[in-house]
Amino acid sequence: MALQIRGLFAHQPQVHNGSQVRLPSGVSRFIRNAVPWAVGGPLVEAETAPEQWSYALSYPLHQDAMRGLASDDALIVECKLLVHKGDLGIGVVDADQSSFVSREGTVHASAQPTTVRIWVREPAKAGHVLFRNIAADAKTTHFELLSIRALVMPGGRECHASWSSLANSSIPLDELRRVLAWAQATWDRPFPEHPTPSTSAALKIVDVGMLPSVLCRSETLVTSQDKSLADWKMETDDGPILDYLWRSIAPRRHLEFGTWEGFGATLVARATEAEIWTLNLPGGETNADGETLYSSTDSGRFIGRLYREAGYEARVHQLLCDSREFDTRPFETSPFDTVLIDGGHTPDVVASDTAKALRVLKQGGACVWHDFCPDPDALSHNLAPLGVVQAVVENFEDWSVQFEQLFWVRKSWILVGLGRR
Ligand SMILES: C[S@@+](CC[C@H](N)C(=O)[O-])C[C@H]1O[C@@H](n2cnc3c(N)ncnc32)[C@H](O)[C@@H]1O
Repeated sequence: MALQIRGLFAHQPQVHNGSQVRLPSGVSRFIRNAVPWAVGGPLVEAETAPEQWSYALSYPLHQDAMRGLASDDALIVECKLLVHKGDLGIGVVDADQSSFVSREGTVHASAQPTTVRIWVREPAKAGHVLFRNIAADAKTTHFELLSIRALVMPGGRECHASWSSLANSSIPLDELRRVLAWAQATWDRPFPEHPTPSTSAALKIVDVGMLPSVLCRSETLVTSQDKSLADWKMETDDGPILDYLWRSIAPRRHLEFGTWEGFGATLVARATEAEIWTLNLPGGETNADGETLYSSTDSGRFIGRLYREAGYEARVHQLLCDSREFDTRPFETSPFDTVLIDGGHTPDVVASDTAKALRVLKQGGACVWHDFCPDPDALSHNLAPLGVVQAVVENFEDWSVQFEQLFWVRKSWILVGLGRR
């Protein structure tokens, strides 16, 4: 359980050269410090200098407030921000502000506030929370910092997973449940949980180099090897693996949960002759606080933009609905060869999408879940895999029996189920 640490941040930020900053008046700052819940409005509003990477402002950390931390305690900095224009980077840096001691979170311009959590592995080296301009092309970034707080997770700094070692070729479910519980705590348990009984079951791992033999293909597959799974990107890192899967399976009918701009649908259209159905919320996805999850490109004409621009529109059927209301009946008599589950990433939506996918998947068909990644580091830095891994843990018994093989592709954010023929 994460506990809040008080008095960690200086009340006033340091303002860096070239940025324009507006602080609330002295009186409202005084009231905010005395009764934080009683005062609305931002802690600070800033416009960065136009240079990419220029520092805008930083909050010094009072080392005294961290004295009680044990060496294995983890520190989390949580900021709520409204970015009006541009792209903002937020990270924790050392005392002389020359190196990061956390990963850098990013927030893009949006009409809604966004909450970022920065997981600090080495609190002893933390000196400042830094806000900087990461927008390219000499654009400034204009933002409001709405709140900032620090949390400590006792004994939570490290989590080891046996499957980080290449010598291990399966993921014991009970161990995955323990890793998941640790990662859920780093996020303050964001999703309702459904306890599952202890089991001796294990999820198989297929190393990416073994995919050709599992899929009976001779072409080799070249993928990212040195990159950390916490920094994984669908387009550059999972794209080649998905492309390989689709070329190997060669579906004639493909269903995708979650279109967004159409990257995944374009990949299938380019790799195969498939007729594709892809569905998305018409107005895009928001979290419980009403914050948009995929910037302003997750609604209206942006949905499916990439497959239309690539000229595949004639082969793609765009469905606009909440997947939980998707009526599978018209497809049950003409099922799909492949399904990609990449829509909502909360465990309830993943479970609902998977139940529907299984109803419309052909016998012997393949179901692929994107954003399944059991790496502790990835889980503590990204909410999407946390929801997918939780859904898989909670439904493992039901889902695994539906497939001849169910495996995580290491290294990737991909889980594959190959149906019984
Ligand atoms: C990770 S993105 C999809 C990425 C896409 N597959 C690609 O290849 O770029 C997830 C998408 O699912 C959509 N989504 C989230 N919850 C949904 C739901 N309940 N029903 C339908 N779509 C949903 C979001 O609006 C978002 O566009």
